[in-house]
Amino acid sequence: MVLTHVEELGDAGEAAAAAAVFASRYVQEPVPRYELGERSISKDAAYQIVHDELLLDSSPRLNLASFVTTWMEPECDKLILEAVNKNYADMDEYPVTTELQNRCVNIIARLFNAPVGDGEKAVGVGTVGSSEAIMLAGLAFKRRWQNKRKEAGKPYDKPNIVTGANVQVCWEKFARYFEVELKEVKLSEGYYVMNPEKAVEMVDENTICVAAILGSTLTGEFEDVERLNDLLAAKNKRTKWDTPIHVDAASGGFVAPFLYPELEWDFRLPLVKSINVSGHKYGLVYAGVGWVIWRNKEDLPEELIFHINYLGADQPTFTLNFSKGTT
Ligand SMILES: Cc1ncc(COP(=O)(O)O)c(C=O)c1O
Repeated sequence: MVLTHVEELGDAGEAAAAAAVFASRYVQEPVPRYELGERSISKDAAYQIVHDELLLDSSPRLNLASFVTTWMEPECDKLILEAVNKNYADMDEYPVTTELQNRCVNIIARLFNAPVGDGEKAVGVGTVGSSEAIMLAGLAFKRRWQNKRKEAGKPYDKPNIVTGANVQVCWEKFARYFEVELKEVKLSEGYYVMNPEKAVEMVDENTICVAAILGSTLTGEFEDVERLNDLLAAKNKRTKWDTPIHVDAASGGFVAPFLYPELEWDFRLPLVKSINVSGHKYGLVYAGVGWVIWRNKEDLPEELIFHINYLGADQPTFTLNFSKGTT
């Protein structure tokens, strides 16, 4: 026989039961969806409503579609929570966070074989992901090209960028937002990455850079950056242009150096002037973090760097947003 034991609630128990979120009047009335309600609701009811609604999202651990990391070690979760209330814009207040970001930039630059001497600092910045990194890299190429064209007294109103038709949508975004024509090399049956021969043929005097992908979004295939570098160097020599290369290593930047250390795709190739990488892909961290690294100082026009001093000392910044989290 099963005996059910019923406990007396007592005063405290009764108060707790009366305050139970699901029994409270807050949850008995619908909360307006698209406007502020007339009355406030308690914080525990608000939490419960949002928490329950989020149950309808799928579980990130089951989501393989967006290629981002969905699990980190518990110690990382702890560190993230400890830093979640810091605004990275205020580098004076958070000098250690700033130092950690600088270390990441330097470690990644050296991993990608940037020509950084001992004790020298690499040039780069942490971003929300590869899309922001690509916007910044693209802007640097555009400005550098415009400056050169101005100096030479040539028109500078029709910049273009050459990519494969397999590029991720962020390149189309960059082109549309920053008014640069996107010249895409068509893919062909059985060949689903940018053909370097065809890409170099499409380069003209208005090309601000050729963008190669290390880890094509749809197949993961690496483009042949070394061949692209050689063909472009020959064309640059012939034409006296100096069209550079950007490598979109969003997915492959944290794979190639470890699995294929001999493969030359990075700053070992002289025309590679900038590289982006996403931390949240094979860098094994949650979205969103990425980086863009420049080969050296000359590749990032000084006028794109803002110097902000109202929070304390001079802070050089080159990001699209001002405030952002530190995690
Ligand atoms: C090759 C490539 N570039 C850029 C991006 C955009 O990266 P993020 O999501 O970090 O902005 C992706 C994302 O899938 C990608 O695969």
